[in-house]
Amino acid sequence: MDLLLFSLPGSEEPGRSFGEAVGARMGEWSHRRFPDGEFYLKVDTPIAGAGVLLFGSFDRPDPKLLPMLFLAETLKDLGAKKVVLVAPYLAYLRQDARFQPGEGVTSRYFAKLLGQSLDGLVTVDPHLHRYASLGEIYEIPTRVVPAAASISEWIRAHVPTPVVVGPDRESEQWAGEVARGADAPFFVLEKTRKGDREVEISSPRGESYQDRTPVIVDDIISSAKTMAAAAARLIEAGFRPPIGVGIHPVFSGNAAETLQAAGLAELVTCNTIPHATNRIDLNPSIAEAVRKLMTL
Ligand code: R5P
Repeated sequence: MDLLLFSLPGSEEPGRSFGEAVGARMGEWSHRRFPDGEFYLKVDTPIAGAGVLLFGSFDRPDPKLLPMLFLAETLKDLGAKKVVLVAPYLAYLRQDARFQPGEGVTSRYFAKLLGQSLDGLVTVDPHLHRYASLGEIYEIPTRVVPAAASISEWIRAHVPTPVVVGPDRESEQWAGEVARGADAPFFVLEKTRKGDREVEISSPRGESYQDRTPVIVDDIISSAKTMAAAAARLIEAGFRPPIGVGIHPVFSGNAAETLQAAGLAELVTCNTIPHATNRIDLNPSIAEAVRKLMTL
């Protein structure tokens, strides 16, 4: 099947790199806003019979959603055989329950919207906490690319005597896997979330790895309060300045300043969202997952 890739607005550069990794031809399209703010688009590459990838991360998702859905619908109208979204970071997974009466379970609504216009979805380590898999809310075929092996490889190459630390129970799934791959011990801390931008993290309980370099591994760095608080507790407990590793560098608000003050020795992230700290390239793993999904 002829494979075309369209970058979503704002993802042109990472889209080109991923296109090379997966061996797709770049699709051309033009888009702009009408004076009233509505979205206009025109597909300039012949489509009939092609398999099409839409590439773009869904950090700050709301303005990205409608252009992506309109592009997907246009491509299908023009005869695309399959339209698959490659979103290395997938949004709207944290509201996975009704925590307070009257709240919207937006993870479900987002999944329903995407499922109406797409034939498949590929992403990296989605934030699955109360859902066992994306299949619980997505009806379209999905493929999840785990970042753990690539993170372990980075640790093996750059940190001589690591101990992997998960900042909370939720991170145990990533931290444990990363530690096994890096042949390192690991432990997790306890986190209590007090608000969107306020967390409390427990001190390590008698873990005696102070002769090792702590590597804090978390999936999302949003406000960066989790990463910063974990670093502070480790330093207080006599550990060396930790290295922070994030899979998805969302970096909202003043996350950069929060991290600068946190005393980390270094911060490295995966390239699921373009950021100056990107050191771990997941494109080859994402490309492999995409190829499998496109041959279904
Ligand atoms: C929590 O459930 C996640 O695994 C991350 O720890 C969290 O999203 C980090 O958020 P923030 O950077 O705002 O503390």
